Order: sequence, then C-alpha cells, then structure tokens
Amino acid sequence: MIQKPKGTYDVYGDYGKKILYLEDLLQVLMEKYNYEFVRTPIFEASELFHRGVGETSDIVTKETYDFIDRGERNMTLRPEGTAGVVRSFIENKMYGRAEQPVKTWYYGPMYRYERPQSGRFREFYQFGVEVFGTENPLMDAEVISIPVRFYQLLGLKNIKVNINSLGDSESRENYRKALVEYFKPYLNELCEDCKNRFYKNPLRILDCKVDAKNPIMENAPKMIDYLNDVSKKHFEDVQSYLKAMNIEFVVNPKIVRGLDYYTHTVFEVEASVEGFGSQNVLGAGGRYNNLVSSIGGPDTPGVGFALGLERLITALDFEKINIIEDNHIDVYVIPMSEQENNYCINLVDTIRMNGFSCDTDYLTRNLKSNFKQSERLGAKFIIIVGEVETNTNVLTVKDNSTKEEFKIDKGELVDFLDSRIEHE
Ligand code: HAM
Repeated sequence: MIQKPKGTYDVYGDYGKKILYLEDLLQVLMEKYNYEFVRTPIFEASELFHRGVGETSDIVTKETYDFIDRGERNMTLRPEGTAGVVRSFIENKMYGRAEQPVKTWYYGPMYRYERPQSGRFREFYQFGVEVFGTENPLMDAEVISIPVRFYQLLGLKNIKVNINSLGDSESRENYRKALVEYFKPYLNELCEDCKNRFYKNPLRILDCKVDAKNPIMENAPKMIDYLNDVSKKHFEDVQSYLKAMNIEFVVNPKIVRGLDYYTHTVFEVEASVEGFGSQNVLGAGGRYNNLVSSIGGPDTPGVGFALGLERLITALDFEKINIIEDNHIDVYVIPMSEQENNYCINLVDTIRMNGFSCDTDYLTRNLKSNFKQSERLGAKFIIIVGEVETNTNVLTVKDNSTKEEFKIDKGELVDFLDSRIEHE
C-alpha cells in the first residue's frame, strides 16, 4: 500500500469539521479587524526565501523542500508565509496605495523538512497576518492581540504571551559585538552549528536547541540591556498598548526567533499547560522593518505573525473544548421505490436550493433501514414519497423529534420548513 509522505496527515471526519469551523471563524475575525485576504503561490523562487527568511536560519539551511522545475529554475515550497506576502506587496505595488497601512491576512499550507513529531509536521497549515507601512507600536500591539483574542474566542484558557525586543539595527549591532566578546572564549564548548552562527549571526546561538541547557547561555548578555533610546521607547509603547487592551504578557529575553528578519518586537504565544508537549508555541511573529527593502522593495516597515492550525486543534482538544456541532441534516427524503426517483431527486434539489440541508437514499434500502439512516444523519424531518404523494403532490412530512406527522402540499413545503427550521 502506498502511504502518505512522512510528516503529513489526511483530513477527514471530525478533524475536517474543526478545520472548516476555524477557517470560517478566521474570516469573520479578519473582517472585524479590517484585514484584506491575500494568497500567494505555494512555490516561489528559492532565492526569495534565502533573502527573505535568512541564510543563517535553520529553516533555509536545513529544512526547505527545493526542486528544479522543467525550465531549470530553482524553486522552493514555501516554508512560511511572510516572504511570499512581502514579494506580493512589492510586485503588486501595494506600497503605492492611498490607503496605508496595508493590512493583510493569509491561510494555507507550509512545508518544512523537519523531524516529524507531535505538533511538528512537514506539511502544516498557517494562518497569519502581515501589515506594511507603519512603524507605530500600536500596530505591534494590534498584531499581538489577534492570536490572543482568537484563542480566547475559542475558549482557550492556558495561553501565555512572551514578548521581547531585538531593537533597531544600531542596538542589534551593539548587542552582536557584546555576544561575540562573550562567546569568544567559549567557542570550543559550543555545538558545530553554533560555531557557524558565531561568525554569521551570533544572535541565533541563543536560539540553539542543542546548547539550550549549557550554563554559558544563562549568563549571556541580554538584548534588552543593549536597546538604544528609540528602541527602548518603541518596546515600552508596545507594552503600554497591550496593557490598555488588558492583554497579559511576560517580557522574556530568551525569545530571539528562528528567522533572521526581525527587528524590534518579537513574540510567541504558548500553550502553558502541563503535559502539552515540547511543541507548545501556538503562534509567533514580530516586526521586520528591513525585510521589504532587502527583497528589493521601497523602504517599508512591516509587522506580522503566524499560527499553526494543527497545534491550535491539539490545544483545543487538550482543554476539552468542543468546537463542532453534532451531525445533523434538516431533511431526509425516502423514496418508497425506484418509481419515485425522478420525483425525489427534484424534491431534494428544491429543498437544497431553498437553503436546507437534505439527503436521500442511494442504496435502495427498505423503509426500516431508511429510518435508521435518517437517525444516523440526525435528520430533523423525514419526507416519505410513494405513489400517492407523486400523484397528489401532498407530502407526508414527519418531525423526527416529536414524531408528529404533517400533510403538506409540495408548493408549501418550503414555507413549512422555513417556519420550523432556522437556516442561513
Ligand atoms: P514560525 O515561528 O516559524 O514563524 O511559525 C509560526 C507558527 O507556525 C508556529 O508557532 C507553529 O504554530 C506553526 N509551525 C511552524 N512550524 C511548524 C511545523 N513544522 N508543524 C506544525 N506547525 C508549525 C513564521 O512562520 C513567521 N512567518 C511568522 C511571522 C509572520 N512573523 C512575521 N510575520
């Protein structure tokens, strides 16, 4: 048997219902925040991710799905959404719009060649936002508020917001020097990857999973002590706006993030509940004031975040939050014999086109097993169609919960259903 690729999963049954529910909710939520939906290709020129996500990030050095297409172009399946949205922002000249800032949201599959484990897949779905055209810390706070409010709306209780600042270029350069000074004498004690990071991007040493428990890490200089006045003010303002929205957070200097593009605010929202597992970061993001220009666009600040749908569903299951309704359809139509098929298919079609969910028998069941099937489907009403009904156009409609029976003229069926069933 051919099996699904490692690190992927199929969606069906209740999981599918959960996904659809969450997708609907995201759309409603993003309308409230006045964000615009964008969709970019699942594959892009490899160079975009090298320039965008960063040459020193694990994602680009170890985890991309790269391929050469039939036209000899180097392509990569997107490992995250930001770089593609930035490319689209530039290519479609959104920076020239009268309405600024440009606030966008997206949803779709991402691909990373990671070691699969619980909460970590090779194909996973992200919902994210990217906002362009303002440095205002109000926007950082708004972006942080989106996953928090989304999780709260769903009823999640055990979430923790960690924030940190990586400052502007000047602050980070000072910090980089301090890190180099600090780590130089310990270089031989660090893992091979960190030795590389020491030369290319020493900040990323702090993010190393291998060296995480090494005491050298504990005493390393902290970014927060190297922020210049502008960066400090930005970070203080973000905190004050979060407080104004009553969003609880913790300033956590260990948050440096695994992508190279961040400046100023970075944040992670985690499931802070015992036993959740190691992949407990539900969503994460931050500000990236130099990314648009580094991909070839005009100097434009940006800020955004993304969250994983799979980890969210695990968190909901973990907190025993049920987001799906029991199975039910409005009407189940039973033909007494194949003679009534034409009549029934027309009836089913009419019922559906008037906004009710409706199903029928495709397996030529007898009446008893059709009743059973209507129970399985949770039908609110049953309509039995025999010779008399097709001749007179008077239908026998049974309310499955009260067991009451009604004789309804076919022409009045929709009004009858309207008066008894709520529908959209
Ligand atoms: P990220 O931290 O790499 O950030 O991913 C964001 C979220 O995607 C994670 O918190 C997690 O929920 C989910 N995720 C990441 N990798 C996997 C995986 N292998 N399996 C399952 N879920 C996963 C970014 O991707 C940035 N683009 C976020 C951002 C947007 N920053 C600014 N704008």
